[in-house]
Amino acid sequence: MNQGLVVTIDGAAGTGKSTAARRLAEVLGWQFLDTGAMYRAAALAMLEAGEDPANAQEAADRVERLHIDFDWSTSPPEVLLDGRGVGDRIRDLDVSAAASAIAVHPPVRNRLKQLQREVAASCHGLVSEGRDQGSVVFPDALVRFFLSAPVEVRAERRIRQLEAQGKFADAQAVRQDLEERDERDQTRDEAPLVRVKGAVDIDTGRSNEDAVVKRMKQAIQDAREQAPPTRSSSRKINPAPGMHPIRRFIVWKCLRGVVELWCRFWHGLRMWNRESLPPEGPLIYIMNHQSLLDPPLVGVLVRRRPCTFLARKGLFAFKPFGAFIRFLCAIPLDVARGGGRALRSAIRELDAGRCVLIFPEGRRTHDGRMGRFRGGVLLLARKTGAPVVPLAIDGSWDAWSRHHSLPRLGAGIGMRIGEPISAEVLGAMEEAEALEHLKREVEKLRLEVRGDLRQATKGAWPKPGIGDVPYWAEDEAALAENSAPEDDKD
Ligand code: DC
Repeated sequence: MNQGLVVTIDGAAGTGKSTAARRLAEVLGWQFLDTGAMYRAAALAMLEAGEDPANAQEAADRVERLHIDFDWSTSPPEVLLDGRGVGDRIRDLDVSAAASAIAVHPPVRNRLKQLQREVAASCHGLVSEGRDQGSVVFPDALVRFFLSAPVEVRAERRIRQLEAQGKFADAQAVRQDLEERDERDQTRDEAPLVRVKGAVDIDTGRSNEDAVVKRMKQAIQDAREQAPPTRSSSRKINPAPGMHPIRRFIVWKCLRGVVELWCRFWHGLRMWNRESLPPEGPLIYIMNHQSLLDPPLVGVLVRRRPCTFLARKGLFAFKPFGAFIRFLCAIPLDVARGGGRALRSAIRELDAGRCVLIFPEGRRTHDGRMGRFRGGVLLLARKTGAPVVPLAIDGSWDAWSRHHSLPRLGAGIGMRIGEPISAEVLGAMEEAEALEHLKREVEKLRLEVRGDLRQATKGAWPKPGIGDVPYWAEDEAALAENSAPEDDKD
């Protein structure tokens, strides 16, 4: 989706984002987008319908059905809920709490992210404020600001706002509400509030509004003078791993084309979101690993942005096969020795603006379940700043699992590309938390593929089995069993 210039302002509640964003937009002659108002409007719709904002399914259904728009002729633009203006009702404390509650649900965030990008695509310049605008929604924004202020200053501001609207403000309740929302915004799994690397920090507790806007204007002017090159465009775009054009043609056009035709014919191969890969800049692909079919198939899926992939050193032991997969852009990964050489090659690829694929489980699944993710992907993201793109495959376990010597022709296979996750978002988490986040994203995507594939094959594939259960449901079940009182156990 094409978009005009975007500047993002993120920060906790009450840091003065909306005022700064509105005034900056006025000065620049751009549009101003209050994304918090979108979450609030969706929350209000749920409250009005008597629904529970903590209920993920109800929230997802509600947001999917809603039409959220803005009346751009007013200043600030008023939120329209199914065409009706919601006024200041969305600023009440009950709506604030409900907005924070629905903001943890991934389908809600995905839907609103899509709407936010549509707004950006429709204007020549946008100042967008929220929690995840610089980290998730517009990671390539011209400037990404991060505002902060002590909680007492923020509480004071909120009280003044409420009083200006003629509403009673209980100081204790306002402060408690802010602290609870901070906690939820910063610790949720999906797009938590984080300060991204390279963001311009502004402490609004120490500066008045004029000084904040002046500082922002200056930062934008500096960024415009320096651009190009911007972070993504400064890296040379190379459509395929650095290689001779003839080899590139053979590997990425001929061989992948043959694999695609073969799998479409024998496995009714289906791919979703294939067009959604960012068109330029380095990418780290990660995918679950069910079968020997996965490496050739993932090459088909990402044919628009080809990649090199890290493959276990053992696969290169049989020399002719090793030479063949090397020709197909595989890099040997010697896990026993720490994999340093392979990781350095991968970093070189990413620094050159190209793409690298890792199977973070390291090897094919033994039983159809996803295994533990290893940390190499985080190291690559940290060293190169490249976003991680989750990919998922399902059905290849039925088609050719490690327990069968030959593929089962006719078994359906599906694949899907997910949303990139920025290196900054991952960098703000502990290693274990970041790996769990990535694993969950891949698993969610795999379950979507599974559902879509079943629908497309009228229930024939994949066969019901362990793959129908998300891994976290099993973990929770095991936990519950272990913590059950003795006499509840068999
Ligand atoms: O900025 P605000 O207080 O109006 O936001 C209302 C809620 O919406 C807040 O609790 C966090 C959530 N929100 C979010 O998660 N992501 C955004 N981009 C904007 C708001």
